[in-house]
Amino acid sequence: MGSDPQDRPGVRHELGVSVSGPEHSLSIQSLHVRYGRGEPVLSGASIALAPKEIVGLIGASGAGKSTLLRAVQRLVEPESGEILLDGVDLTKLARTELRDARRRLGMIFQEHALIERLSVMENVLTGTLGRTGFWQSARRRFAPEDVTEAFGLLDRVGLTGLEDSRCDELSGGQKQRVGIARALIQHPDVLLVDEPTASLDPATSVRIMTLITEICLERGLAALINLHDVPLARRFCPRIVGLKEGEVVFDGPASALDDEILRRVYGDDAVGAPAGHQGSPAGTEGSGGTDGENILGR
Ligand SMILES: Nc1ncnc2c1ncn2[C@@H]1O[C@H](COP(=O)(O)OP(=O)(O)OP(=O)(O)O)[C@@H](O)[C@H]1O
Ligand SMILES: [Mg+2]
Repeated sequence: MGSDPQDRPGVRHELGVSVSGPEHSLSIQSLHVRYGRGEPVLSGASIALAPKEIVGLIGASGAGKSTLLRAVQRLVEPESGEILLDGVDLTKLARTELRDARRRLGMIFQEHALIERLSVMENVLTGTLGRTGFWQSARRRFAPEDVTEAFGLLDRVGLTGLEDSRCDELSGGQKQRVGIARALIQHPDVLLVDEPTASLDPATSVRIMTLITEICLERGLAALINLHDVPLARRFCPRIVGLKEGEVVFDGPASALDDEILRRVYGDDAVGAPAGHQGSPAGTEGSGGTDGENILGR
């Protein structure tokens, strides 16, 4: 493998680092989703996350990755299928029960979805909205224990000293850290992460993925992480699911991702010069042995 194990939380995950605490699982079964009367966007997608499992969801633009995360939260209503959080089907929940279930699904977004004119601290505390109620949060009357917890979370994500900064003064990586702290203050049982590194440079992307996966390990959280960047998915997610046109076309260990699977997920253009290609040994990263550059960056 060659790289520092500290940089490979996925590997530590694969090696079975155990985390104490309650175990929570998410099982998406035969999910069908369409927007209005449009074409189906998800056509029977199924993904089951075991407790503490970190799964990377890859697929071409438009494959339905974000839609799948939105459907799990029922921000878009599935036509059919089941979404089982610890065995409870979220598709059957009434509005009040759904609010509590959404709190248990911590969401981290590509564009951070922060309130830019508010401070870092205020943005983190909006994550308590699910349990304190809208008007209390809207008046920004935050409980002292929530403020204390927010200080601790901001320290954990590396933002100590920036509590009072306005979010529109932050870099992309710092905003993403605020988004992570905001998701954690909800006390989620599972993390849903949509393109957390899409607007970040490569080094910052690695730092953010390291932070997210380390926090999952520390807290025993399962996570479903949409990623455009295949090398990053492969590095940080022990298991990868490939979505193509709303269907799961690959589900297996990251080490099994090879050119044939990349073609299946992304189409032929994803892989260059297949003739004579030997593939790289399972579990290696950035090693040679390919004839042309592919989406793995090899
Ligand atoms: N609100 C919406 N209304 C109608 N169609 C939508 C809506 N959101 C997404 N779609 C369509 O659903 C399909 C899947 O979109 P989705 O955003 O889930 O893809 P994605 O895999 O997340 O893509 P990307 O990698 O570009 O983020 C696309 O064809 C898109 O145009
Ligand atoms: Mg998307």
